[in-house]
Amino acid sequence: MTIIKNVIGRQIIDSRGYPTVEVDLLMENGEIGRASVPSGASTGTFEAFELRDGDQKHYNGKGVKNAIEYVNGEIRKALVGMDTNSQQTIDKILNELDGTKNKSRLGANTILATSIAAARSTSKCMRLPLFEYLQKTPSYALPVPLMNVINGGRHANNDLDVQEFMIVPLGAESMHDAIRMGCEVFYSLKNILENEGFSTAVGDEGGFAPKLKSSEAALNLMVNAVESSGYKAGKDICFALDCASTEYYLDEIYNLEGEDLKLSREEKVSYLSKLCNTYPIVSIEDGMAEDDWEGWTMLTKALGGVVQLVGDDLFVTNYERIKTGINKKCANSVLIKPNQIGTVSETLDAIYYSQQNELSCIVSHRSGDTEDTFISDLCVGTGCSQIKTGSLSRSERLAKYNQLIRIEEALGKRANFLGASAFKNFKY
Ligand code: PGA
Ligand code: ZN
Repeated sequence: MTIIKNVIGRQIIDSRGYPTVEVDLLMENGEIGRASVPSGASTGTFEAFELRDGDQKHYNGKGVKNAIEYVNGEIRKALVGMDTNSQQTIDKILNELDGTKNKSRLGANTILATSIAAARSTSKCMRLPLFEYLQKTPSYALPVPLMNVINGGRHANNDLDVQEFMIVPLGAESMHDAIRMGCEVFYSLKNILENEGFSTAVGDEGGFAPKLKSSEAALNLMVNAVESSGYKAGKDICFALDCASTEYYLDEIYNLEGEDLKLSREEKVSYLSKLCNTYPIVSIEDGMAEDDWEGWTMLTKALGGVVQLVGDDLFVTNYERIKTGINKKCANSVLIKPNQIGTVSETLDAIYYSQQNELSCIVSHRSGDTEDTFISDLCVGTGCSQIKTGSLSRSERLAKYNQLIRIEEALGKRANFLGASAFKNFKY
């Protein structure tokens, strides 16, 4: 029932206009499982390898024709006739075919598109919703969304050093309600920006990208937008940051050019503590750089009891790095990006290992993304407490929120929106 008849790869275009890999698995019973993969801009050094052609005459070197050739050649040869029922077996075959530690021969983009297509094909053949197929134990938790309403860093051409300023509607009653609240704050923020003479153009993840001078300026606008939408900042809606600190860390100094600050790791901890004392911030991602373990331990000691501290570039969805982080008492939360590690099975391993060790998990999109909604099903299926998939504009972002609305509807009374309980270990 779950036997692969054919494998077809094609080059499609992502939300930044760059090529990406899409794979169709055609099954013996006529079902088709399709998947396409995202791509980051502020990528971590320790992520699995993304294969690009490098031919400057073709999409400025960003083409993925070689990846597609691997799908339609070696991968097709290895997978036709295989049963997709065991995700682990499929992923093992793909990893063995690649033969490298970081998927640098076939590319993590090539492998992940195939791996997700296998999961989707199996769920379709089994007539199960994808989230249910991915479930280990039935849990119908719906995640709190972290919505990136102001974009900075590598995702916008303004001076904000912090890459993402997110609203967290943890006072909502349901997924649909959380999304509605996010939309309403997004409209208010647009009005406020317009009235104050700022641009309302959006960045890569659909948040506004005004030319602001500091993190405080962005957070003040967010407080105003929340309150003028009729919500209470710190009660109905809290805030989250992604500092993407690796981007401005050099020679043990955090160089916040936009704010004209050069901070030691101790000063960076103080900078973040001050923001947490002034604003209702419940989560900080990559507050320290990917190789500054000492800084991470320091930050976790200072803020770990009151704020969710999320490792993105630090952990790169990699079991080994998460393990190191636990030993060094770094962070208390893990960002989950399937394309950082490159297969569905290894993503699930990272999630379950983190959950067993009481680290919260946030499933995440990438700044370059497609209409694929795998991460929404992954998040619900694995009971991860939060999802981060951009702002309330740009359809590649909304596709994921819309899928969560559909999942909530399908679950009916069984749906359990986590709300504030997602942050019960922290100060909220
Ligand atoms: P990226 O950004 O996809 O450009 O890496 C997202 C993030 O840093 O969380
Ligand atoms: Zn990040």
